[in-house]
Amino acid sequence: MKQYSEHFSKRSRLLRAPELGEGGGAGLRPLEPARLTDHLRQVLRVQNDFFPCFDWTFPPPLLNRHQPPADAEALFRHPPVEAGRYSLYLHIPFCKTLCSFCYYTVLPGRGIEQASRYVDYLIREMALYAPTLRGRLCESVYIGGGTPSHLDDGLLQRLFEALHAHFAIAGDAEISLEAAPGTLPPAKSALLRSLGVNRLSYGIQTLDADLLATMNRHYCVDEALVELDGALEHIGNVNVDTMYGFDDEPAEALIRTLRRFHELGIPSLSIYSLDTQRSRSGKSLSGPPRDAQYRDKIERFARAADLLNGLGYRPALQNVFTLPGKGSYRHQVRRWDNLPLVALGVSSQGYAPRTPYQNHGALKFWYQSLDAGRLPIATVDHLDAELELIREVASQLRFTRVDLAAIQRKYGVDLDFVFGDLIRSLTELGYLRRDGDSLSMTPAAAYYNNLIPMLFAPDAFKEKLLALPEEYLEEYPVPHVMTRVGCTQSAAIEVRLPGG
Ligand SMILES: C[S@@+](CC[C@H](N)C(=O)[O-])C[C@H]1O[C@@H](n2cnc3c(N)ncnc32)[C@H](O)[C@@H]1O
Ligand code: SF4
Repeated sequence: MKQYSEHFSKRSRLLRAPELGEGGGAGLRPLEPARLTDHLRQVLRVQNDFFPCFDWTFPPPLLNRHQPPADAEALFRHPPVEAGRYSLYLHIPFCKTLCSFCYYTVLPGRGIEQASRYVDYLIREMALYAPTLRGRLCESVYIGGGTPSHLDDGLLQRLFEALHAHFAIAGDAEISLEAAPGTLPPAKSALLRSLGVNRLSYGIQTLDADLLATMNRHYCVDEALVELDGALEHIGNVNVDTMYGFDDEPAEALIRTLRRFHELGIPSLSIYSLDTQRSRSGKSLSGPPRDAQYRDKIERFARAADLLNGLGYRPALQNVFTLPGKGSYRHQVRRWDNLPLVALGVSSQGYAPRTPYQNHGALKFWYQSLDAGRLPIATVDHLDAELELIREVASQLRFTRVDLAAIQRKYGVDLDFVFGDLIRSLTELGYLRRDGDSLSMTPAAAYYNNLIPMLFAPDAFKEKLLALPEEYLEEYPVPHVMTRVGCTQSAAIEVRLPGG
């Protein structure tokens, strides 16, 4: 039975899902183990969406229509699966200029004039969380943006003092800060080091001067390299962000850029595929994600990954490669262990036990909530124990790899038993690789790497998606693939609750 919805419009996006309708119609197609491989062959079609996209979340924000919690106690009311520990993310939205491609929440140019007020409010936000987190240890801090290195020395000092005053930060915590060229003289690298920053992520994007000139970034390659040198000297554990997939990008630009950074001794390299769907210039917020350069990007990424592997780098995340023993990115890797992540600042995304959440993206509402003494949370999702487990499984598969034995120890769930048929079929199709207890996607999965982890969604969650309007399900790759695939669980999921 078709259900057409008044709410559906081609201008709505995944994040603006329509309300749930009544009931789910005919129900999910039952699992037929003998036919699953053939069925998956039909269901998995090139979706032409971003590769590899960074903003991927499980569960996708389709059903999150909940009221924000009253306070931090309510937000953290469920027992954590990672007891006694958490991470912090702070968003600093200020940038010198607005880069032509950027899709982050930023206040470029004169926005920096409100930096002092912004830091004051961040400190108020810290105070709202501090009592709830007392007695737990913060194992990593990520200060991202925007361009946190654009804050002046006094504000950076105030921020770090406040962090230590409100939270118990472990002695060996990884403390990362993002920086952009033009904001990181060597003296600032030295200051950051003295404040405890032990990982710096510096966005250079490309060493191709002509390509750089199209990005509205206003610095030249040589200036960036001088600052990078200072960061290497003072901080050492430096990641450089690079990008690919621009119009008229020379075929060798990314490879040449990565080679040069390797020669300069950079221990960590991120490679981002240009995502035009969410950028301001693209403005194409209608319909499902589409990317005409999808195939080309997959090829460029594969060549880059081969190069970096050959040079001794290893993937810490799908698009972040580190030299073992020299570069680290524990913060982001631990995020996918369902470690609680406290989100501070405008638009930040966090994770409280069984409760993914996101702060207001508009500064006005963020300030208003804090003025009223409330957490500035705009959206929350509520996961049951099953969905929380699968959040970890799907995210690890998407960004790193799943350790089946570790999942069994942590949740008491044998994934080989629960998803045995799905794992077997995806392995047969060449999309999954098994190495001892470690399960990961193969390079052949590149065309479906945003979708394959979603096949591990609990059948009960897929049932709920069936209540979305049919045209919405057909139009959007994520709910479409989850409902068309039908049941994928070979056995019930019985999560052993922490402490239970
Ligand atoms: C939050 S930014 C912070 C880094 C710093 N502000 C800079 O630009 O140098 C992190 C990285 O996201 C990447 N990025 C920004 N916009 C992007 C887009 N539209 N598509 C893909 N990656 C993007 C860039 O590589 C950037 O360095
Ligand atoms: S890419 Fe970096 S510097 Fe450029 S606008 Fe985005 S956050 Fe700011």
